[in-house]
Amino acid sequence: MITIPGMTQFDSQLAAAPTDHPVTAPSADAPKPALTPLAPAHFFATPVWTQQLTAHATLNLPILDALTGLEATAPSVKRSNVGGWHSETNLHHHPAFRPLCQTISRVALRCALALEFDFTRGGLAIQSLWANRNGPGDYNAQHVHPNSFLSGSYYLTVPPDSGNIEIADPVRERVMDAYPMRSDAKRHMRRVEYRCRDGLLIMFPSWLSHGVQPNRSNAMRYSLAFNIEVTPKILRP
Ligand SMILES: [Fe+2]
Repeated sequence: MITIPGMTQFDSQLAAAPTDHPVTAPSADAPKPALTPLAPAHFFATPVWTQQLTAHATLNLPILDALTGLEATAPSVKRSNVGGWHSETNLHHHPAFRPLCQTISRVALRCALALEFDFTRGGLAIQSLWANRNGPGDYNAQHVHPNSFLSGSYYLTVPPDSGNIEIADPVRERVMDAYPMRSDAKRHMRRVEYRCRDGLLIMFPSWLSHGVQPNRSNAMRYSLAFNIEVTPKILRP
């Protein structure tokens, strides 16, 4: 048996297990075709972008001030939120959110370029922006954002243990992939957890399923979420 450094006991047992067609090393005089370097193409990759905004305390001040007023007057909307308060989805029209919207637009533009979006056939616009306040025990169930191109969140106030965002593996068929993989194998994770922190902007394709863990702190967690839509261009003959 060949011992490979880093093998776990389980791996070693598997390698030692008898098979009907054992893989054996070729004999010394067997022809050895030259192999070129293996450079796999990664189809169906899923991008997730993050941007930590500098000076977020200054940026967040008027936003949190506006949210205080909105919370006092507007009842919660029910979407993916379980508990908590969810604002209306039109905050991108509110002046207090304008500087943040400009930053979101700039980041969305770069994400779209990375996705090879064809700007000769369409443009992008912020379709909706809303706030989430998650108190103790509140969370957001796994969901996608329909009728949208890019989505994301911006974290205003994230106390310790108030909940991270969890992104689910979009390749459902991978549930059949039960081969022994290293526990740290990045290409075989079924979910990814991003640690949320004040001033972090995260963006991903709108079809990517995600949710927010329960707030296990005694403090309020404030975040914003948004959708970027495609605005079709009228092509003239
Ligand atoms: Fe969401």
